[in-house]
Amino acid sequence: MVAHTALKGHSGAKLSIEIHDGQQVVRKEAADAARSDRLRAQAAKQEAAFLAGIPCPRVLARSERDDCFHFDMEYLPSISIAQTQIDAVPIDRPALLDFIEQNLERLASGAQGTIPVAQFKAKIDQVRQRCRASNLLADLVPAIDRIMDALEGFDWSGIPASSCHGDFTLENILYNKERGFFLIDFDEVDLSSFYLDAAKLFQDLWGHWCLRELSLGGAGQVALLNAMVNIDGLRASLLKRLARRWPELPAKLLPMVILHLVRVLPYCSRQELAVLVVMRINQMLVEADMHVDPAERSLNGVV
Ligand SMILES: Nc1ncnc2c1ncn2[C@@H]1O[C@H](COP(=O)(O)OP(=O)(O)O)[C@@H](O)[C@H]1O
Ligand SMILES: [Mg+2]
Repeated sequence: MVAHTALKGHSGAKLSIEIHDGQQVVRKEAADAARSDRLRAQAAKQEAAFLAGIPCPRVLARSERDDCFHFDMEYLPSISIAQTQIDAVPIDRPALLDFIEQNLERLASGAQGTIPVAQFKAKIDQVRQRCRASNLLADLVPAIDRIMDALEGFDWSGIPASSCHGDFTLENILYNKERGFFLIDFDEVDLSSFYLDAAKLFQDLWGHWCLRELSLGGAGQVALLNAMVNIDGLRASLLKRLARRWPELPAKLLPMVILHLVRVLPYCSRQELAVLVVMRINQMLVEADMHVDPAERSLNGVV
């Protein structure tokens, strides 16, 4: 196998396109031995998804090298949905909404009961402690504590327990000309619910997580404004679609999206990124206090 091109991921895993028997494949390799188990679970989840007919790249091989797990999968030249919004690349929006709804529907069909509220409380406590222990977050601790207090005050009942994708973001939904929309980067998580998958999409669509590099990278106000308008438009149409199918879901989105956002704080490599996340969460809390339907405030965050 010949190393070919590096791909850019966000998890610390090493991704590259390699040539194997004349075919291009993607190799995903754990950054270190400690992260091998998680990647092994990802490969197993992706393989099971492929066999169940869920659109995703076929897993071709797995192997261990120096205690680091890696797996190879089909290479499907593609663009992420996040990138289509940033670059204003036209997509078939109704087809994307169908794709998202069908995947959530499939997960919802196996739902059994709800996740115990105590599990959410334990997770909130764990994240609070992790944030307090981080040197990089030291200046932000008072602001983060206020957010954690708000999180504890939400009603965490009624969130269905079901299987999930685990990291259902706009960066992990890709589009390939021949295969259409497909999923990558499955994750095994401790709180498993299709509601939390839906909330991951709103981490991008409402929390603007997928705009972090654009926001911090000095791409220019026009580029950022353009991306926000595109993202906010997609948010409004997805919210409408999900509210029709799961009328109880919208009221649960705010706490779930904020929980997803605070969970990234201990992993932020730059303080500016943590500040951006805290600011965005505070904007969302103010928005909720004003009892404004996010779908109707399409320019919120821009003005
Ligand atoms: N099978 C694939 N075919 C084409 N591109 C891929 C494939 N798998 C990953 N990529 C590209 O690599 C990027 C990172 O992959 P991902 O598995 O999401 O890594 P991470 O876990 O670091 O987020 C994706 O956004 C996509 O651009
Ligand atoms: Mg990813």
